[in-house]
Amino acid sequence: MSSFSKAGHLVSLLNKGDFKILMVFASSLKNRQFLNLTTLSQYANLSQGLIEHHLERLVKFGLISKSNIGYTLLVTGLDIYVLKTLSNKNIITALGPQIGIGKEAEVYLAHDLLNQDRILKMFRLGRSSFKQIKRTRDVSAGINSWLLLNIETAKKEYDILTYLRGSSSSFPTPLYRSFHCIVMEAIYGDRLSDIEILNDPELVLEKIINNISIAYCKGYINGDLNEYNILVNEDNIFILDWPQAVRVDTVNADIVLTRDVKNILKFFSKKFNVEEDLHKIINKIKRNAS
Ligand SMILES: Nc1ncnc2c1ncn2[C@@H]1O[C@H](COP(=O)(O)OP(=O)(O)O)[C@@H](O)[C@H]1O
Ligand SMILES: [Mg+2]
Repeated sequence: MSSFSKAGHLVSLLNKGDFKILMVFASSLKNRQFLNLTTLSQYANLSQGLIEHHLERLVKFGLISKSNIGYTLLVTGLDIYVLKTLSNKNIITALGPQIGIGKEAEVYLAHDLLNQDRILKMFRLGRSSFKQIKRTRDVSAGINSWLLLNIETAKKEYDILTYLRGSSSSFPTPLYRSFHCIVMEAIYGDRLSDIEILNDPELVLEKIINNISIAYCKGYINGDLNEYNILVNEDNIFILDWPQAVRVDTVNADIVLTRDVKNILKFFSKKFNVEEDLHKIINKIKRNAS
């Protein structure tokens, strides 16, 4: 079971007091890595006895970790807290299957109150090094800093998508962010990497280039553009995955833009025998922005 579907199950097992404690941990993340009984009791406004009772449950469920310097929030604990928040706000009312596992995130299908499909992208940066931290139980190595990195990255992607919103129908529409999770509208399409036949590959490539150009004119370069981050359906193409995007005025912007365009041209040349000139396209993108 992946950590997030485990989270879906656990939400139903937890009570109000458990969530109150999780809330204290989540809202203290930035300032305190470890909390002790006295602080928890103050923040949650509950007796130390009650706090101990809930902590015992949270430790047993694998949401909180106990060490000799205090208690700390684990990733599943934050997952659960986020799920509960989204569900309280009716942003999602049901959690569906995992539909994608990328380099940096786990992606789930969910439903909202109106039964509309929603996408949850839970950031999991540094997954393998985190597993090592867990394995060695070296909690002081900074689980919180790992969580904070994922929260920051989710925020970066959410902010960029919000900024790009409305400039093209080819970028995901962001709906909400909670800690390390972004909620987006669902896109229906196949990954470009999985597509064997395209009716009009020249047109698909043209749409991709047009959208690189739209983002560039708005000031951003995706920075991780490849056939895995593009979805295609009969009408449109979609460019996903923006947390590593760079501003067009940074020093290495030209290198990043060239790499993105090169990746796509190489893919279209190899798979669909469509040839385009790299420099011509880069010049066109830059001309459009000037
Ligand atoms: N808005 C969305 N609608 C439909 N599928 C999505 C959406 N966002 C992501 N996905 C799916 O999840 C996969 C991973 O998402 P992505 O944003 O690329 O994260 P990662 O950083 O992990 O690569 C995508 O390849 C795609 O299949
Ligand atoms: Mg990706």
